[in-house]
Order: sequence, then structure tokens, then C-alpha cells
Amino acid sequence: SEKAEVKVTFVRANGERIETKGKEGDSLLDVVVNNEIDLDGFGACEGTLTCSTCHLILPKDVYDALPDKPTDEEMDMLDLAYELSETSRLGCQVILTKNLDGLEVKVPSTVNDARA
Ligand code: FES
Repeated sequence: SEKAEVKVTFVRANGERIETKGKEGDSLLDVVVNNEIDLDGFGACEGTLTCSTCHLILPKDVYDALPDKPTDEEMDMLDLAYELSETSRLGCQVILTKNLDGLEVKVPSTVNDARA
């Protein structure tokens, strides 16, 4: 069966909106990569939880409703991210589901590659 399409909008710090589509089961990192979105330094470790460059800020209702809560490993990595917020997640750890259709996430203005 076809996987459902999920619309995702990335909003840059300057307000620019980048409207994209992913599929159920994709991570937000997959969405960035598959749509070739030009986000400086984003996803440097390719989803292996060692960089924090995929830091995104979610709407609170979405953050609270996500079935997969951040693991300790993700929390440790998030601690190294700049502009950390209470609804921050690592994009490589957030998996799209049908009910996330229309999701808007904020892209922080700076990235910190924790491997550097
Ligand atoms: Fe490196 Fe997500 S891509 S932690």
C-alpha cells in the first residue's frame, strides 16, 4: 500500500517558509534530504545521533503528542544544540505519521556540530 504523504513546512529564523512533503515513516531529516532543502550544516551525522545539527523546534501540541519521547541519547545531544527550547527535538529522531500532516517546524538560526 502507498504510504501517506505528509506536508511539512520548515520555517527559517528569517521567516522564510519552505513547504515540502514527506511520507509516513520518514524522519524530518529524511524530508530535508529527500527534498534537497538547503539548510546550512543540517544533518551532518546523517541521523546517527552524534551531531545535533538537525535541531528543530516543534509546536507544543505536536511535541506533546509525539508517541516517541526523546531518548537519553537524544537529550544529551540536544543539550549541545544552540537556541534550545522546551519543544526542541532532533529532526533525525522525529518520524512522520499521517496525523502530522500540515506540521510546521522552526529551524534555529545557528547550528552546533557537536562533533567539532
Ligand atoms: Fe546528527 Fe540528527 S543528524 S543528530
